[in-house]
Amino acid sequence: PRVAILISGRGSNMVSLVKAAQASDFPAEVVLVLSNKPEAAGLEVARGMGIEAIAVPVKPFGKDREAHERAIDAELQARGVQIVCLAGYMRLLTPWLVGRWAGRMLNIHPSLLPKFPGLDTHERAIAAGESEHGCTVHLVTEGMDEGPVLGQARVKLLPGDTPDSLATRVLEQEHKLYPAMLAALAQKISLPAG
Ligand code: GRF
Repeated sequence: PRVAILISGRGSNMVSLVKAAQASDFPAEVVLVLSNKPEAAGLEVARGMGIEAIAVPVKPFGKDREAHERAIDAELQARGVQIVCLAGYMRLLTPWLVGRWAGRMLNIHPSLLPKFPGLDTHERAIAAGESEHGCTVHLVTEGMDEGPVLGQARVKLLPGDTPDSLATRVLEQEHKLYPAMLAALAQKISLPAG
């Protein structure tokens, strides 16, 4: 299947997906990186790896969230995209786009969902006195950071952990988990129906 990755920032998860997909035996191909923010550092990084990378800024669409998403969707359709990976895409999607990509849109979140949806997950895990933390890849549904969990990776909290030190260890796991979960979904989608 052909894959697009949606980002808003540095795109380290995007890089891990692109690198994994460049292996000849990987069951999916990354054909597009798309950002809502033209200044996202990940766009240049993607181009440097030979991947088409474009911005679809929100501004021309004003408050019409669906119109922005229709513009994104048109870019995806134009390239025959079959799976969408959200990787640090920092906008909540409307039910329209989510419904259109049901079962074919993945997200990665830096917590062991259903614990700590939303922002500042590392800080909140430390403050809550958790003994472990981690990341989750899930199918995207209408609720933020909800939807069926496809896989998780765990890290132990260490004495003296700061949000940054914990984020670094979780991110290492994100970079392994996300390509593995994309490969699993790609394989499932490639199977003949029935
Ligand atoms: C990651 O922690 C991801 O789990 C979260 O946003 C961050 C994006 O980082 N959804 P990057 O842009 O992939 O480096």
